[in-house]
Amino acid sequence: MRLYSLLAAAKINLYLEIVGSRPDGFHELIMVMQSISLCDRITVRSIGVDEIRVRCDHPLVPADETNLAYKAAALVSDRCPGVMAKLGGVEITIEKQIPVGAGLAGGSSNAAAVLVGLDLLWNLGLTRIELQELGAELGSDIPFCVSGGTAIATGRGEQLDPLPGIDNLHLVLAKYESEFVSTPWAYKTYRAEYGDTYLTDAQSWQQRQSQVRSGEMVRSVAQRDAKALGQHLCNDFEKIVLPAHPKTAALKETMTSLGGLGTLMSGSGPSVFTLAESEAEAESLATRLRAALPDPDLGVWTAQFVSGGVQMGG
Ligand code: C5P
Repeated sequence: MRLYSLLAAAKINLYLEIVGSRPDGFHELIMVMQSISLCDRITVRSIGVDEIRVRCDHPLVPADETNLAYKAAALVSDRCPGVMAKLGGVEITIEKQIPVGAGLAGGSSNAAAVLVGLDLLWNLGLTRIELQELGAELGSDIPFCVSGGTAIATGRGEQLDPLPGIDNLHLVLAKYESEFVSTPWAYKTYRAEYGDTYLTDAQSWQQRQSQVRSGEMVRSVAQRDAKALGQHLCNDFEKIVLPAHPKTAALKETMTSLGGLGTLMSGSGPSVFTLAESEAEAESLATRLRAALPDPDLGVWTAQFVSGGVQMGG
C-alpha cells in the first residue's frame, strides 16, 4: 500500500507534578496521562521523489522542517539510510482538529502518527518500544502519544507504566483561541518561582514516585472510581499559568461552577477540561458553558477517554 491514514489522539493530564530539575536540563515529572477521542488525521503517502513534504491547512501549523511531524520523518529516514531512495519520499497531510498550543500534545500526537505510519509505509518492522525510543528523541510526550490509553509517566514524561483504562468517562474541553502558552516558558517560569521547592536527589524522586503510585489519583484510576478521580485532579502548572492568563483562570472558575466531576487545566495549558460521567452530561456542560461565556473566541469540545494513542484511520 502506498498510503496510510491514521488518527492521532490528543491527551490530557489528570495529574502533573513537577518534582525536580534533571541533570539533562529537563524537569523530573510524575504524571497521569489520558488519551481522548479528539484527534487529528494524519495521512502518509509515498511520493516518487526523495523528499519529505508536509501539508496542513491550519494557519498556525508550519508546513516546513520545523513541524514535529517533519522532524519525525527526517529522524526515521536518517536512522534507515537509503529507505527513501529505495521506496520513495513521503507526503504527510495533517488535518487538525486538536487545538494548537493548548497543552493537549497536538504536535506530539502528529509526530507519533508519522512514526507509526512510516513504519508501515517503509516496511521497517519496528517494535512499539523502538518507535517510542525514536519519539523520545524529539519530544517528551511522543512516547505516550504512540501507545496512548491511560498511563503513569515519569522521568521527562517518556517513562511509561500503563494503567487500567477508564473508557466510560467523558469530558468537555475549552480553550480561548487567542490564548497560547509556550511550554518552555511554562517550565522556565515554574523553575523561577518554585525551583527552591524541588526535590534535589534521585532517591527523593523515587520516594515521591512511590507515594504518588500508591496515592489517591492512581487508586481512583485503578478502581475506576470516577468521582474520586474528579476530586484528585492536580496540575502544578496551574500555579503559574492561571495568574499569567486571567481569561483562562476565569474560564476554569466558570467551568468549575457548572458542576461535573472535576475541572483542571491540561499540561502547560491553556486548555481546561471538566470530567463528566456520561456523554449527555458532557453535552449539557458544554451547552451551559457556551451560554455562560458567549464569546466567539472560546472553543468548546466534547470528547471521551479512549484506550489508544495512534489508531488506523480507515
Ligand atoms: O520534550 P518537549 O519538546 O516537550 O519539551 C519542550 C520544552 O519543555 C523543553 O525544551 C524543556 O524546556 C521543557 N521540558 C522540561 N521538562 C520536561 C519536559 C519538557 O523542562 N520533562
